[in-house]
Amino acid sequence: GIKIVTIGGGSSYTPELVEGLIKRYEELPVSELWLVDIEAGKEKLQIVGNLAKRMVKKAGVPIDIHLTLDRKAALKDADFVTTQFRVGLLEARAKDERIPLKYNVIGQETNGPGGLFKGLRTIPVILEIIKDMEELCPDAWLVNFTNPAGMVTEAVLRYTNHKKVVGLCNVPIGIRMGVAQMLGVEAERVHIDFAGLNHMVFGLDVYLDGVPIKDEVIRLMNDPNNSVTMKNIANIGWEPEFLQALNAIPCPYHRYYYKTREMLVDEQEKAATVGTRAEVVKKLEDELFKLYKDPNLDIKPPQLEQRGGAYYSDAACNLISSIYNDKRDIQPVNIRNNGAISSIEDDSAVELNCIITKEGPKPIAVGDLPVAVRGLVQQIKSFERVAAEAAVTGDVNKAVLALAINPLVGSDKLAKEIVTEMLEAHKEYLPQF
Ligand code: NAD
Ligand code: G6P
Ligand code: MN
Repeated sequence: GIKIVTIGGGSSYTPELVEGLIKRYEELPVSELWLVDIEAGKEKLQIVGNLAKRMVKKAGVPIDIHLTLDRKAALKDADFVTTQFRVGLLEARAKDERIPLKYNVIGQETNGPGGLFKGLRTIPVILEIIKDMEELCPDAWLVNFTNPAGMVTEAVLRYTNHKKVVGLCNVPIGIRMGVAQMLGVEAERVHIDFAGLNHMVFGLDVYLDGVPIKDEVIRLMNDPNNSVTMKNIANIGWEPEFLQALNAIPCPYHRYYYKTREMLVDEQEKAATVGTRAEVVKKLEDELFKLYKDPNLDIKPPQLEQRGGAYYSDAACNLISSIYNDKRDIQPVNIRNNGAISSIEDDSAVELNCIITKEGPKPIAVGDLPVAVRGLVQQIKSFERVAAEAAVTGDVNKAVLALAINPLVGSDKLAKEIVTEMLEAHKEYLPQF
């Protein structure tokens, strides 16, 4: 059978992954699922792990669930390694979200200063995991969900020799579901040509049953009640003039770039009232774990859909199954560009539609991105690359440079001040600096 190892197994999303594996057991016969966490996540791992055990038992599916804090023991002979960990836990995320607001800069988990610092904390850990994988399961695929997923994939491609890495995100699935809902059709009938970077991806074309329908979708998106978003991102509608001229489907995260001022006001209001997203998520998580503890619960509770990562397991399980079964279907993933987008370096990570084969995802050539979005995508790629270099080298100046490149900051002086404060706030998790 197949052995899957999930690092950050104590995550509240784990029941979703388990549900995905149960649903696909016939085509994807997983015999072992190892959930790995660290001392700080021990209690969560126990609670969620016991729920996972009840779920497979109830489903009558023979997947052995192992819970461990010993990563190396888990990784031995793994076929697939999935990662969903959060270095510094939600407390660190709350700092990523609050500190930039003091400087009137967007405070977000994967964008701007928050994205930079989440990357600086995460990249050293992912490189350690790769080292272990090279020793214990060199042929395994790394399926990375850990954010910032684009920057993390970039770092693995650039700073390790492990080429079997795929970065995943639920944003493309979310857009497809949102578009299907607007059209009033089943999501399976909708196809979108996705290209760009993680949390910076565009739908360049949309088809319903193979017939082009982008213009209609853009018209529908002009109605603010229809706008495609996710639970964690304020649903502020697009200006119809902008959207029509853009002639592409933006992702929900694009609001941080094309509505920076409005999003900042929204974040500051929330920070002063309900709390930042990390603070809201903390409460959601406490409720979820209360439910998970109930010994009578043996399915994924619907409350999990309040999290921004809802349906992420479909992305993970579909990918793993298509690699295992050589399905050659099309899925949007983060992978080495290999020339598919001509204005991005061949050896950089991009998020785009790929054909998923036994040898991994094969990017579908896009040619170039439309001129309207090309510059922003390249700028974010520069940010990700310089940030990944800062994470690996521990060079403070590179961290300042990365942030000055980021369009959400707009000042080298501000970049320096924010980096200085955030390095101090996160120093426990930044041993490289
Ligand atoms: P979480 O705070 O619940 O953390 C998950 C687990 O990681 C915790 O149990 C924690 O103890 C553990 N952990 C922390 N450091 C670790 C380490 N060094 N090794 C192993 N485990 C460690 O987080 P969450 O809300 O479940 O999210 C997990 C990660 O997945 C985050 O990075 C989040 O941004 C990301 N995420 C990505 C997507 C996507 O679209 N790519 C979707 C959802 C979540
Ligand atoms: C979206 C993104 C994920 C992100 C999540 C945050 O799904 O694709 O990358 O981690 O939202 O959700 P949360 O509930 O943690 O705010
Ligand atoms: Mn994502």
